Amino acid sequence: MEFTEVLNQSQVSEFILLGFSNSQDTQFLLFALFLVIYVATIVGNLFIVITVTCTPNLHTPMYFLLANLSFVDMTLASFATPKMIANLVKNHKTISFAGCFTQIFLLHLLGVVEMILLVSMAYDRYVAICKPLHYTVIMNKKVCVFLVLISWFLGFLHSGLQIPFAVNLPFCGPNVMDSIFCDLPLLSRLACVDTYSVRIVIVANSGVISLSCFFVLLVSYSRIFTTIRRHSSAGHSKARSTLAAHITVVILFFGPCIIIYIWPSGNHSVDKFLSVFYTVITPILNPLIYSLRNKEMKIAMRKLWRAFVKPRSDT
Ligand SMILES: *[C@@H]1O[C@H](CO)[C@@H](O)[C@H](O)[C@H]1NC(C)=O
Repeated sequence: MEFTEVLNQSQVSEFILLGFSNSQDTQFLLFALFLVIYVATIVGNLFIVITVTCTPNLHTPMYFLLANLSFVDMTLASFATPKMIANLVKNHKTISFAGCFTQIFLLHLLGVVEMILLVSMAYDRYVAICKPLHYTVIMNKKVCVFLVLISWFLGFLHSGLQIPFAVNLPFCGPNVMDSIFCDLPLLSRLACVDTYSVRIVIVANSGVISLSCFFVLLVSYSRIFTTIRRHSSAGHSKARSTLAAHITVVILFFGPCIIIYIWPSGNHSVDKFLSVFYTVITPILNPLIYSLRNKEMKIAMRKLWRAFVKPRSDT
């Protein structure tokens, strides 16, 4: 029996994602909690994209990048979370072979796009604060389009390089993953061959990308920070608190990524908890931190709201 299973290597046709399978009561509570967060994430980010698109005086590099980040946040929140939420109230927590690889592809694509966009936004703020006289020359529309295109290009490149390793793994029996979505570290452990070299590729690829983006972000934020400290005035205390908020997001997003890929804890409940950070928490934090603390954005949102709501209430 086991011998034929090993021979028939394409035998596994689906995987089981355990997700948060605690007691019935906790599952229902988590279902409600994640559903509310998910809906708020989509509404918040959609509102940002619409506001930036419909407000001509927000057509600047900073807001274009912000709207792009919101778009990526919506997709990052949607590639696996709805299925994870549905699985909380379902008995059969399965995902098809193709579904699993789609999740891996999207996770790595969107993860890298998000990282490069965060770096681009930090670079934009760095130029605005540290080289204000050259801002309009350095950050023009062309550079902004280039940064967006390069983030998607690197995302596809990174994801496209990972997938062949995963698809070629032979699966011949074990198919249970104690996780909320499919990803390479856990998937490679289910394969019935030695996956040491595959794991090295995973670490080299995802780990190095997250670490180097994190490093670039830390350097640009500390340069911004020292520049602000030198010109301490009233306006700069607000800039300082905004900066602290940005750094929080960066740490919450990159910390878990770096831990999962470079120092996997081996404890699945810890990894599960960490993966919630970059698929559930960061996508909702970005609109809160980058936009709702921003005066220009709030004014534009209010105007847009009035333009849509007032005409109807007047009649
Ligand atoms: C993303 O950025 C590009 C380049 O600046 C811009 O043209 C586009 O409108 C942005 N996308 C969204 C969804 O705002």
